[in-house]
Amino acid sequence: MAGYFAKQSSLHVAIVPDGNGRWATARGLPRTAGHRAGAEAVRRTIEAAPGLGIRTLTIHALSCDNWQRPAAEVQAILACVGEFLAAESAAAARAGVRVSVLGRRDRLPAEVLRAVERAEQVTAAGRRLHLRLALDYSARDALVAALASAVDNLPRGLLPTRLGVARAVGEDVDLLVRTGGEQRLGDFLLWECAYAELLFLPTPWPEFSPEHLAAAVVEFHRRERRFGGLPGAPANEARA
Ligand code: IPE
Ligand code: MG
Repeated sequence: MAGYFAKQSSLHVAIVPDGNGRWATARGLPRTAGHRAGAEAVRRTIEAAPGLGIRTLTIHALSCDNWQRPAAEVQAILACVGEFLAAESAAAARAGVRVSVLGRRDRLPAEVLRAVERAEQVTAAGRRLHLRLALDYSARDALVAALASAVDNLPRGLLPTRLGVARAVGEDVDLLVRTGGEQRLGDFLLWECAYAELLFLPTPWPEFSPEHLAAAVVEFHRRERRFGGLPGAPANEARA
């Protein structure tokens, strides 16, 4: 298996950790118990990622559209993320994990915002793994903001280029994994996933293990990525 991991050792893996609620309901537990179990799966995933050649891990914690859920559930998810960050930041810093949080900050409860800022500060020097948590995040909003900043940085009348937008949005995703059995992207990393390999797993997120992650990376290395080119041929320089 080591050969697989050597093939590309700076992967950007994105995860939609879906299925927490159904997992809990199936066990007669409240949905919030699923989110708590999901936080454990996030911790295991972060620990396993660097050893599998993953350099960047973007995890969808809460989308802007999740505010449509009952307020108590949204607050429980936010509290779970805040507690996770507060509890794990010191260990993350020691393990070389840099944490950053994507998304809106103006709707976060004060305590969660403090945990976010503190986690970003204490882990800023991490170089082993970049953990990006998408919290109150919308890819469409992120794209609008990226376009606006790309336009702002140009002389009047010039339109932004792909490169300009790509720089403002962030790095491309290599592999996107969605657990929980549903097969869609939602409003998550829409630009960055243009050439991502997609993997949909039936496993509910609370059951996701380092073995699932390792198998996902093996599956990624089996895929032939052509970026619109032909099999086996070296790609010409991408359009800027
Ligand atoms: C995903 O699990 C976790 C978050 C959205 C934070 P869900 O809460 O969507 O669980 P299901 O899809 O209802 O099972
Ligand atoms: Mg869901």
